[in-house]
Amino acid sequence: MRKPIIAGNWKMNKTAAEAKELVNELKPLVKDAECDVVVCVPFTDIYAVAEAVKGSNIRLGAQNVHFADHGAFTGEISADMLLEAGVEYVIIGHSERRQYFGETDETVNKRTLTALAKGLKPIVCVGESLEERETGKTEAVLKAQIVNGLKDVEDITKVVVAYEPIWAIGTGKTATAEQANETIAFIRKTIAENFCPKCAEKVRIQYGGSMNAKNAHELMSMPEIDGGLIGGASLKAEDFSIVVKM
Ligand code: PGA
Repeated sequence: MRKPIIAGNWKMNKTAAEAKELVNELKPLVKDAECDVVVCVPFTDIYAVAEAVKGSNIRLGAQNVHFADHGAFTGEISADMLLEAGVEYVIIGHSERRQYFGETDETVNKRTLTALAKGLKPIVCVGESLEERETGKTEAVLKAQIVNGLKDVEDITKVVVAYEPIWAIGTGKTATAEQANETIAFIRKTIAENFCPKCAEKVRIQYGGSMNAKNAHELMSMPEIDGGLIGGASLKAEDFSIVVKM
């Protein structure tokens, strides 16, 4: 009943010209996809990709959005800027933003509330570090990220959550399908307890972290996993299209 969503997170890869090439290669490969297909591209690629995806089933996403409408926020991008450029989805609170750019649950929350108010579809990332997993803190960490990061969200069904264990990102180490399923079930339970039980059943929760053409099938066959946020494997049209077709 939840439509799967596969989103590519290109991170800081591809110039506008390269982006256009990749999307043009991708279009025919994913045209019959049964899931929602999204590419979250660097800011400078947005106009080129918006043009390239026209008339296709590929949706356009960005990798961050600021919470203010405009103003003195050097290096940031507003929701209106993204919307005017044709952006529909936006990744918020990726662990790399949290780790390298001081993103906190509080700023994640502000960005998410702004995205929703403006009509962007947020993909909000949560996930524990290896140390947190090994010391039994996974559930407490995820609960805090969900409760604080999504505070005051009125319609939680409009949010896509991406569960990305930090130790699995870009490392080639995936969570086992069972581990991912179990943790995503916990996230859904947390949403049920803190928002509403009925809505929790509708929220799409992706897995992310070294998901690729080889392991996507097993992950996607788990009942709680509603798609993937794909980094490295989204940079090759063939690989990404295999994940999309799982
Ligand atoms: P990865 O990245 O697939 O390269 O591990 C996923 C992500 O960080 O979104």
